[in-house]
Amino acid sequence: MTYGKDFAAIYDRRWAFWGPKMWAFLHPLVRRRLPHARSWLDLCCGTGSLLRLAKRRGYTVTGVDKSRHQIRHARKNVPGARFVRGDVRRLSLGGKFDVITCMFDSLNYLTVKRDLLTAFRGAHRHLAPRGIFAFDMNTFEGLEDRWNNTTATQDRGLTLIVENTFDAKRALGHCLITGFIRTKAGYRRFQEEHIERGYRAEDIERLLSKAGFVFKKCDGNSLGRVRKRSGRLLYVCRKRAEGRRRDS
Ligand SMILES: C[S@@+](CC[C@H](N)C(=O)[O-])C[C@H]1O[C@@H](n2cnc3c(N)ncnc32)[C@H](O)[C@@H]1O
Repeated sequence: MTYGKDFAAIYDRRWAFWGPKMWAFLHPLVRRRLPHARSWLDLCCGTGSLLRLAKRRGYTVTGVDKSRHQIRHARKNVPGARFVRGDVRRLSLGGKFDVITCMFDSLNYLTVKRDLLTAFRGAHRHLAPRGIFAFDMNTFEGLEDRWNNTTATQDRGLTLIVENTFDAKRALGHCLITGFIRTKAGYRRFQEEHIERGYRAEDIERLLSKAGFVFKKCDGNSLGRVRKRSGRLLYVCRKRAEGRRRDS
């Protein structure tokens, strides 16, 4: 199991910065391209760091996540928002959304291409006709370059050891997270193994096109121009106009 009780409880201490970073990039873009947008759906929403900001700006927000523990923290972080526990491969929310996001390499957890296509199709089904779908993903090159290290950090009663390895043959990154949380009685230990697939840009783009999207992309870390070995890509997608050929 990933994103269990202990990991979800400490997630925001280390990883909540991503929501505000993405908000600062995405919100001006949404305002420019879709000034009348009202509804915002965040897939794999985690603890709600992006939706908190969207709600504050008046959007009607919905979050979906597979982990009931992440959802529990999201409900606390974003009171009044709608959160649904569910799998991004089986989306069925009823209704359409102006903006759909899926941030912080959440889609890399789908380790077979068929599942990634299913998730893209789900986003397409739930997107309003002129809506925007944005997501970021770790690339094959990103995992190859970065997922070969071990880090250990200690901060306010939490020790976290993160061991990353990458199997280039299978394009799979393994991330073993071991945590020690200080308690009154001593330390409580938890461990989770996360597996992400490193996707090549051409595979992501072929599947997006198959699902009915056209897109623009940038480097997902610098948010600037795509580089030869961009470790993360951020895509901003719209529905392809009906009748347009897939390869046009
Ligand atoms: C790296 S976290 C990102 C969370 C959040 N988007 C953020 O920016 O902080 C990945 C999240 O994806 C969720 N997740 C992974 N696979 C999923 C799936 N198949 N369906 C729904 N949620 C999933 C996890 O539970 C976790 O909360």
